[in-house]
Amino acid sequence: MPVAKISPSMLSCDFANLAAEAKRMTKNGADWLHLDVMDGHFVPNLTLGAPIIQAIRPHTEAYFGKDCMKRKRGQWVDDIAKAGGQMYTFHIEATKDPLGLIKQIHAAGMQAGVAIKPGTSTDSVIGAVAEQVDMILVMTVEPGFGGQRFMAQCMPKVKQIRELYPQLDIEVDGGLALDTIDVSAEAGANVIVAGTGIFKADDPAKAISTFRNKVNQ
Ligand code: DX5
Repeated sequence: MPVAKISPSMLSCDFANLAAEAKRMTKNGADWLHLDVMDGHFVPNLTLGAPIIQAIRPHTEAYFGKDCMKRKRGQWVDDIAKAGGQMYTFHIEATKDPLGLIKQIHAAGMQAGVAIKPGTSTDSVIGAVAEQVDMILVMTVEPGFGGQRFMAQCMPKVKQIRELYPQLDIEVDGGLALDTIDVSAEAGANVIVAGTGIFKADDPAKAISTFRNKVNQ
């Protein structure tokens, strides 16, 4: 299985101090930063877009992963690439042409990830899509908000994808914390997104290193 990549979700940061929060997380050992782009249609929330991503970019070396929860496919691929995005993850439920979108993301110079919601079967990504993407994100909450309860019933999906694609990055997002990392790592997830579990931890550096050790052990 690929090595751990720990990705604090900026949805839980202090939005009044974005640059400082990004720096704080890299200093605490984050490999990636997770930036949720939500358009208020696919999920009932509005977050940030390309201008804010571009503003944070000079303040951290961390790899920029985006979870793009938008209704119109591909709409912002180029803008996000120009803003400094490195991994663009789209929801399989929001596009009719995933292979075309993956091509568009790669052509823009980013890695491509595909996300599935808790109720979406792995059948939607196994095969051609999984063979083209750089990462599969198995959502462990309904997308939209931080601070929700981890859905352990999503673990068989992680396990199935890991068995089929031993070298692929598999990300989990939603409710990841010290009491949910073990089942996630055991199932085969190696990219760990955590908002509350890192930003609200007493010791974020310790939370990040614990997540990393559990995945790499
Ligand atoms: C949910 C977001 C998550 C969210 C996770 O749609 O994609 O990244 O911030 O927050 P926690 O870790 O608090 O569940």
